[in-house]
Amino acid sequence: MKVAVVGATGMVGNVMLKVLEERNFPLSELIPVASERSVGKKIKFGEKEFEVVGLETAVAMKPEIALFSAGGDTSLKWAPKFAEVGTTVIDNSSAWRMNPEHKLVIPEINASLLDKSDKIIANPNCSTIQLLMALKPLHDNYGIKRVVVSTYQSITGTGVKAVQQLENEYSGENGEMAYPYPIHRNALPHCDVFQDNGYTKEEMKLTNETKKILGDDSVNVTATAIRIPVVGGHSESVNIEFSKDFEEADVRKILSEFPGITVQDNPGVNTYPMPIYAEGKDDVFVGRIRRDHSQPNTLNMWIVADNLRKGAATNAVQIAEYLIEHKIV
Ligand code: A2P
Repeated sequence: MKVAVVGATGMVGNVMLKVLEERNFPLSELIPVASERSVGKKIKFGEKEFEVVGLETAVAMKPEIALFSAGGDTSLKWAPKFAEVGTTVIDNSSAWRMNPEHKLVIPEINASLLDKSDKIIANPNCSTIQLLMALKPLHDNYGIKRVVVSTYQSITGTGVKAVQQLENEYSGENGEMAYPYPIHRNALPHCDVFQDNGYTKEEMKLTNETKKILGDDSVNVTATAIRIPVVGGHSESVNIEFSKDFEEADVRKILSEFPGITVQDNPGVNTYPMPIYAEGKDDVFVGRIRRDHSQPNTLNMWIVADNLRKGAATNAVQIAEYLIEHKIV
């Protein structure tokens, strides 16, 4: 497989390269792609070094698969050009996610929808992926009516600039700001841009992408997304109202049997998921599983995952692996 990684010098692109290498992805040639300012830079992959090329050059090389993480505008403009030369694009931006012509895929949930006609496949938002990994098996068993989620999101989701801002604030240096306020010692109730309805785009992604991935418009999600000065992963406090009642023990069993989920839930010995331990791992970690005593059929839990891994790079690479395994590419 000839594979292009578009945005190879960025935060997610870097992890995509790492994940491809770790999983022994069947790769015959790597094409790292970035903006014109990075062309010519060397990227180490395994024992070899590859030179960064521009988008035009990459299209001409006709890769079988292109993993995109270079922002929505780059995806909107360039994904169709790759598709035209026969490349299957897996896109990590929000550009194609809610387009009804394109599939929004978490392999453990809905990869079976994919076929040869899918030339641009959308990778969901990082907060949505970890939420849905835990919601899907519970929805299948108890029917979800409504979810209230508050996120505590890592700055790595904003990209290299945000990590630089935090480092500048630690060291007292001035520099470019990725956020409108300091992030060190702060919590910003502001992820992505505000919309006319008072919610941010990130919050509405949780609402809209959930319905699309579950293929069920009746599942209601209301979200508050918060940025905190953490780098290892996103955390989510989740309250779920079901149609049917449940036993806490059954919920733990159902979650632990779902591929890609690790239950870490033993408050007696302070066992619960945390971003510093999720960092660098591919699983989604779930804990603090407990009944909500304030209303019937309702559960609380805490979900943590490395947003650059399962929230972005790992999910995209898993989609590519599925396409190869099922001879779609
Ligand atoms: P570059 O490093 O050359 O700017 P992050 O989200 O971590 O900031 O990373 C964004 C990634 O997307 C980087 O690899 C960046 O390349 C790439 N990128 C940004 N704009 C473009 C563009 N117009 N064309 C191609 N790649 C781009």
